[in-house]
Amino acid sequence: MTKVSNYPSVYAESLADPGEFWLQAAECLDWITPPRTGFVQRADGMADWFPGGTLNVCDNAVDRHVRAGNGTRTALIYDSAMTGIVREFSYQDVQEQVARTAGMIAALGVGKGDRVLIYMPMVPEAVFAMLACARLGAVHSVVFGGFAAAELAKRIDDAEPALVMSASCGLEPGRIIAYKPLLDEALRLAGHKVPHSIILQRPQLQAALQPGRDRDWNAALAAAAAAPCVPLTSTDPLYILYTSGTTGIPKGVVHDSGGYAVALAWSIPNIYGVQTGEVFWAASDIGWAVGHSYIVYAPLIAGCTSVLYEGKPVGTPDAGAFWRVIRQHKVDVFFTAPTAIRAIKREDQEGTFIKRDGIGQLRALFLAGERADPDTVAWAQQKLGIPVIDHWWQTELGWPALATCLGLGAKETRFGSAGMAVPGYRFAVLDEAHQDIPLGEQGDIVIKLPLPPGTLTTLWRRDAHFHASYLTAHPGCYTTGDAGLIDADGFVHVMGRIDDIINVAGHRLSTGGIEQIIAAHPDVAECAVVGAADALKGMVPVGLIVLKANVTRAPDLICREVVERVRTELGPVAAFKSVAVTAQLPKTRSGKILRATIRSLADGQSPSLPATIEEPRALDAVRTALSGLTKPGD
Ligand code: COA
Ligand code: AMP
Repeated sequence: MTKVSNYPSVYAESLADPGEFWLQAAECLDWITPPRTGFVQRADGMADWFPGGTLNVCDNAVDRHVRAGNGTRTALIYDSAMTGIVREFSYQDVQEQVARTAGMIAALGVGKGDRVLIYMPMVPEAVFAMLACARLGAVHSVVFGGFAAAELAKRIDDAEPALVMSASCGLEPGRIIAYKPLLDEALRLAGHKVPHSIILQRPQLQAALQPGRDRDWNAALAAAAAAPCVPLTSTDPLYILYTSGTTGIPKGVVHDSGGYAVALAWSIPNIYGVQTGEVFWAASDIGWAVGHSYIVYAPLIAGCTSVLYEGKPVGTPDAGAFWRVIRQHKVDVFFTAPTAIRAIKREDQEGTFIKRDGIGQLRALFLAGERADPDTVAWAQQKLGIPVIDHWWQTELGWPALATCLGLGAKETRFGSAGMAVPGYRFAVLDEAHQDIPLGEQGDIVIKLPLPPGTLTTLWRRDAHFHASYLTAHPGCYTTGDAGLIDADGFVHVMGRIDDIINVAGHRLSTGGIEQIIAAHPDVAECAVVGAADALKGMVPVGLIVLKANVTRAPDLICREVVERVRTELGPVAAFKSVAVTAQLPKTRSGKILRATIRSLADGQSPSLPATIEEPRALDAVRTALSGLTKPGD
């Protein structure tokens, strides 16, 4: 029997009385003091969700399932394709681990409101550390392992953590990444002095510990007593997650406790169509928003089994890695980035691994993190024979805002669109004068205030920056930073960013931030970085540099130094490998670099000559510089 879609009525209900709609959704959680009010609107138009309600998010993700008699149900499956280790943790196991980890942290004097920076590979201890912070009301800030020391230092200075939790190493195909030297360097660079660190020694590499500051994780854990959950108000911060802004300074996106927990609990059955006890796998990293929400918090709050995968889509050991995990752990619904599917498709165009071994009981594949190109979606749909659903969100939003809500019975998808507005979100596409643009035409994608629960509350200690970044461009709206259109049937098509953020293999980077690093090279007079189309990663950064007049060193050598600088200061995650020297950069008469024109040239197109260009010959200079440049995906 085909299920009739409840999506239109639920969507209408969510906007008619948002407070009541989300108060009802909040009933699925265990509150210490249940909220009586859905939200109060702040002077800036944003909402404080569930004021007066008190709860603990860790209690809702872990302890309450044990209390309800489900302690033996599997909470977490750790599958490391890097080491071959598979470990299962029941809710009872997770409770024990998390309570002791919280005790270990509390023994250092860390408590409610203190920040804890987590710089860890994809190991279960990283998940336990996040939940342990939530247990104590400490605010965690997880930093992705692919960021370099200087980036880590920026986050340390902004969050001012009382404790850093890290590991001796991460594992990448063919190499061990020593995390501790990166951490030591970050701690040295940072102005804020972190008093304590706890280091997990992995068997692949032992880290040297600094007496007085560094503690051995396992020794400290063995000595720790279990700590209970601390009551928090709904609006207390749960975590800060740094993401790229338009400058080199990362934005510390703050998520609250109650609103976030309610939205995530709601999303699992209603968006993903996943029920308590089923297996949900998000192949991402805990350092990203997807990892926070859909490896850790949402599946556990919903009482599902979550898979924590340490590996890659290809090469660990082959393009069948994902399907092996899906079969072995009986994954019901799977979530990854389009780039991962492109990587698989590139190595296994025929879908041989899928044909040979099958995909078990998998019933849907969700994609997000970057634009899902129709070729990739069509390939996955054809080879897997299940719905492939593109959906859209941002670190700031914390959970999907555009999707095809499978759990509400919605089915229709449209190539090139990330779906329709999720209940709670009211989208519009506006022009520069803040007017609605006719359906089908492109403009700024905004979301009308107030935002639903689960979304950011501010930027850490930067309220003014928060307002300037998100609430000022279009009054009464949250500006997403994306451009796109809404078609006649309500499908939203996200076309790209309106700022200088680029998306590299589902990772968000600021070209402005990369330019700042390059510009500091002593031989560079000026530079431009653009995101060029890449068959695997969606986009890769490509740099053009103009050398200072008196420079006599070989341009090739300078280019290599520039690449190394970006890798050392920003991190390997930037995938910055293409840079060329040009005699000049195309600029407008007012001196603005014509980045869109450079981007077209980098993509091999022939852009028409911009009317505002100061020196048309600059285009030839860039064309020459770009010829012969190879991109990592080539
Ligand atoms: N710690 C240290 N280094 C890391 C790292 C980590 N946690 N994660 C990645 N890196 C390094 C990689 O080793 C690589 O280094 P290299 O330049 O020496 O090769 C570099 O950072 C870029 O990594 P990555 O983006 O993973 O590219 P890749 O070429 O190794 O693999 C894909 C390409 C498509 C397979 C990979 O990008 C992928 O799996 N993407 C999925 C994206 C995703 O899950 N996004 C989350 C948002 S939903
Ligand atoms: P992040 O905060 O790292 O998740 O990046 C969010 C940005 O990634 C969005 O603002 C978009 O530019 C892009 N993005 C994420 N998902 C999609 C999608 N499904 N389609 C198009 N762009 C996407």
